[in-house]
Amino acid sequence: MKRAILGSLSFFAFSAVALGAEILRPSGPISPVAVFRKLNALLLDAWPDEGATFIKSVSSFKDYYLYIILGLFGIFLLHYFIFGPRRFLHRGEKVAYYGFFTRFVHWGAAVSMTFLVASGLAVLFAKVFGGGPLVMGLRSVHLAAAFVFAIFAVFLFLSLVKDMFPAPYDLKWFLILGGYLTRKPRPVPAGKFNAGQKMWFWVGTAGGLVMFYTGYKLYQFTAPVSYLRELLKIHLYLGLAVVGLFLIHLYMSVIAVKGALQSMLTGFKDVEEVAKMHPKFYEKIRKEF
Ligand code: HEM
Repeated sequence: MKRAILGSLSFFAFSAVALGAEILRPSGPISPVAVFRKLNALLLDAWPDEGATFIKSVSSFKDYYLYIILGLFGIFLLHYFIFGPRRFLHRGEKVAYYGFFTRFVHWGAAVSMTFLVASGLAVLFAKVFGGGPLVMGLRSVHLAAAFVFAIFAVFLFLSLVKDMFPAPYDLKWFLILGGYLTRKPRPVPAGKFNAGQKMWFWVGTAGGLVMFYTGYKLYQFTAPVSYLRELLKIHLYLGLAVVGLFLIHLYMSVIAVKGALQSMLTGFKDVEEVAKMHPKFYEKIRKEF
C-alpha cells in the first residue's frame, strides 16, 4: 500500500515538472539581446525604437521658434516703416474701457509671461547660454513664473471672457487684416475687442493654462513616458502660437498703436480710437447715453 501511494505521488510530481517545463520552454531560440530589448521596451515604453526620431523632432522645434521670432521682427520693421504707427492722442472725450481689477490682473499676467517666455526660450536654446547653472537657474524661474502666471491668467480670463466670443464680423476683420495695411485709418468691423485681440485672449489665457498643465506634468516626470512625450509636443507647438502672438501683442500695444499703453494704465480710451477701431462698441455706448 505504502509503495503504491509513493509510486502515485512520484508519478504526479514527475508529470507536474514535465508540464511546467513544457509551458516555460521558449517556442524558438531567443537571444539575450532580444530579451533585453523586449524588457527595455516594456520598461521605457518603446523609447529605444522611437527615441532617436523623437529627439530629432524636438530639436527641429528650435528652428521653428527661430523662424517665428526673426520672421515677426522682419514683419514689424516693414510694417512700421511702410505704414507707420496709429496715433490716438488722448486729448478728446474719454471712454471707460478697463476697470481696475482687469488692469491689475492684466499686468500680473504680462510681467509673469514676460519672464516665462524669456526663460522658456533660454531653456530651449540652452547651448547659446552656455548651459550649466545659468540655464538651470532660468529653468527654476520658468517654473516659478508659471505658477504666478496661472493665477493671474484665471482672473484675466474671467474678467474679459464675456466680450471675447466670436462675432460674424470678425471674419471680415481678418480678411482686411484689421485695416493695419493702410496709412489712412478707416473704421474696421470690431466690437469692444477686435478679432485679433480675441484670438490673443484665447491663446494667451486658455492656451497659457494648457501650457501650465503640460509644463507642470513634464516637471513632475511621473506620468508614463509616451504620455510625457505627447505633453512635450503640445507644450512646444502651443508655445509657438503663444510666443508668436505674445510678440504681436507687444508690438501692437506698445509700438503700432500709440495710446494703447495709456489705456491699459489709466483704464480710459480716447473716443476717436473707440469710434475708429471698435465702432460696434462705440454705437452701443452712444445709444446708452
Ligand atoms: C509685457 C507684456 C504686455 C504688454 C506690454 C501688454 C500691453 C497691453 C495693452 C497696452 C493693452 C491694451 C490694448 C488696447 O486696448 O488697445 C493690452 C490688452 C490686453 N492684453 Fe496685454 N500686454 C502684455 C502681456 C499680456 C499677456 C501676457 C496677456 C495674457 C495672456 C495679455 C492679455 C491681454 C488682453 C486679453 C488684452 C485685451 C485685448 C487686447 O488688447 O488684446 N497681455 N495689453
